[in-house]
Amino acid sequence: MHDHSANSGTARPLSLAVLGYGKMGKVIAQLAPQRGFEVRLSLDIDANQNGAGITRGNFQGIDVCVEFTEPGAVLENIRRVAALGCNLVVGTTGWHERVAEVRQVIEASGVGMVYAANFSIGVQLFYRLARAAGEIFAGFPMYEPYLTEAHHKFKKDAPSGTALEIKRQVQPYLPGREIPVASVRAGHIPGVHELGFDSEADTVVLRHTARGRQGFAEGALYAARWVVGKKGLFSFAEVLEKGAGG
Ligand SMILES: NC(=O)c1ccc[n+]([C@@H]2O[C@H](COP(=O)([O-])OP(=O)(O)OC[C@H]3O[C@@H](n4cnc5c(N)ncnc54)[C@H](OP(=O)(O)O)[C@@H]3O)[C@@H](O)[C@H]2O)c1
Repeated sequence: MHDHSANSGTARPLSLAVLGYGKMGKVIAQLAPQRGFEVRLSLDIDANQNGAGITRGNFQGIDVCVEFTEPGAVLENIRRVAALGCNLVVGTTGWHERVAEVRQVIEASGVGMVYAANFSIGVQLFYRLARAAGEIFAGFPMYEPYLTEAHHKFKKDAPSGTALEIKRQVQPYLPGREIPVASVRAGHIPGVHELGFDSEADTVVLRHTARGRQGFAEGALYAARWVVGKKGLFSFAEVLEKGAGG
């Protein structure tokens, strides 16, 4: 069978632990074997209350762990996985204001971790477009920037981590200009983000629409392969800039 994935091609499958077996955890577990991983462990809340399932015994032989749980669980999960010396990829959102604390934990444990509010490669490229837009509109104050985001009704944090990241990327180009963010939670929307610039005459909009969860899972598994053997805390944007071998 022809395999054109950048993520596969090594002889031995990597042993993967999936932490959080919700919507994302399930898509990742399903895709992992096609991308050169063997799912050796999956832990959902029933087996991992307060991180109780993250034990040396359970993690024996695990090469890398992918974590998609919830804002209230993620920090304890990171601490415990790092304490076991296991590298990890964290997709959970709603904790990035504590990134300095997590960096200390990761560096003190000597493990590698990749995190992102959004593991879709299209969104990572959107960040670059957003910066370019910020730079272009900087000289035209009659255009007022704004952000909107829409997600399914089950999403626990708002605004989305992705919306906050877009704002973080654009704001330096527009000092002193407020960028309001509006969130919608309804139905089953996988994720829509818009960066708009509105003037009296017209509106310019950049939009990213996720078609499903597979794009997030692809990016998370790409990061999982990359982080094996690395030390330190990396954003997914840094990983993409460094490239697969970096
Ligand atoms: N970075 C990205 O690309 C990306 C993409 C999509 C989603 N996300 C984020 O990833 C997270 C998960 O999203 P999702 O759509 O998969 O949500 P979800 O369907 O609610 O799944 C989360 C799962 O984690 C479980 N869980 C809660 N605490 C846990 C713990 N301590 N240990 C193990 N499992 C635990 C939940 O169990 P219960 O439901 O029983 O509590 C649930 O099954 C959210 O923060 C979301 O914003 C990020």
